[in-house]
Amino acid sequence: ITTAPAPAITTAGTPADDIAFHYDLGNEFYALWLDETLAYTAGKWDGVPREEPDATALPRAQRAKLDHHLDLVGAKDARPGDGLRLLDVGCGWGAMLEHASRDDRVATATGLTVSPAQYAFLAARALPGAEPRLESWEDHRPERPYDAIVGMGSFEHFATAGMTRAERLAVYARHFESCHGWLRPGGRMSLQTIAYDGVADGAGPIGEFVGSDVFPGARLPRLSEIATACDPYFSVVALTASAEDYARTLAAWSARLLRARAEAERLIGPEGYRRYRRYLRASEVTFLRGAVTLYRIGLRRRDEPLRLPV
Ligand SMILES: C[S@@+](CC[C@H](N)C(=O)[O-])C[C@H]1O[C@@H](n2cnc3c(N)ncnc32)[C@H](O)[C@@H]1O
Repeated sequence: ITTAPAPAITTAGTPADDIAFHYDLGNEFYALWLDETLAYTAGKWDGVPREEPDATALPRAQRAKLDHHLDLVGAKDARPGDGLRLLDVGCGWGAMLEHASRDDRVATATGLTVSPAQYAFLAARALPGAEPRLESWEDHRPERPYDAIVGMGSFEHFATAGMTRAERLAVYARHFESCHGWLRPGGRMSLQTIAYDGVADGAGPIGEFVGSDVFPGARLPRLSEIATACDPYFSVVALTASAEDYARTLAAWSARLLRARAEAERLIGPEGYRRYRRYLRASEVTFLRGAVTLYRIGLRRRDEPLRLPV
């Protein structure tokens, strides 16, 4: 499978410079403290014993999360020899693309990223059946419909800090409308996203630090916004919330980064290392305090979009 040429990236969400500020810090740096799957979103920890060392516990939780999303999009109903055409919106370093490439219920997996460093990494990996693209979902025009779409940890980037609620709803609705248009009738979608829970927005020292020093430009959604935006296009078939899943993932990443301190400082400097340590610990605290949570949402495509009263 050939990879797409690198187009200019335009997005109404997190601007390209801010994406590069975070994700293009160096694949080597992230490989130091993410696990071998290179998943950069919360794992699914139920059933993983607390005393299990993170070297095995973290990849187990990550693979359980990837399987959960494949279940949500109906992989278990795929017929042998007739696997799913899957789209991964915001594919990162390819955790799902790789997982899907080993699963014969998935025939092809297309992954979108807006990070040039991630794209270069994925293009060099050449996973069987996987097509990474350096492209925003806003520019994606598939030639054939997909059976299934997953999005893990990308929805957080679709709105920016300065937007009004109405502007955020408009972007989110455009995203769901696009996904509806790319899926075949009866197609499934799954979404994993951080969202505000016990606070109205990112005000306060931790939110300000993450918003200015780590993920500049990003704005989290609320569940009510996701529900309002997706309702015309999708029926919600599963919804779980687990702040705990992100807190445990962040604790594992923190411990791994601490152990890799010397190498991390060599790669991004002592100040960069301290910034990441603070960000991982601060984020863990926001989940533990219930300020934010993690949703996993299973969605079924409506045959015709609903016209809902405004
Ligand atoms: C936190 S990472 C998650 C990566 C991956 N899903 C995982 O679980 O490891 C967020 C990803 O969203 C991508 N992203 C952000 N905005 C995007 C957009 N407008 N279109 C496509 N991908 C986007 C980033 O490039 C990055 O790959």
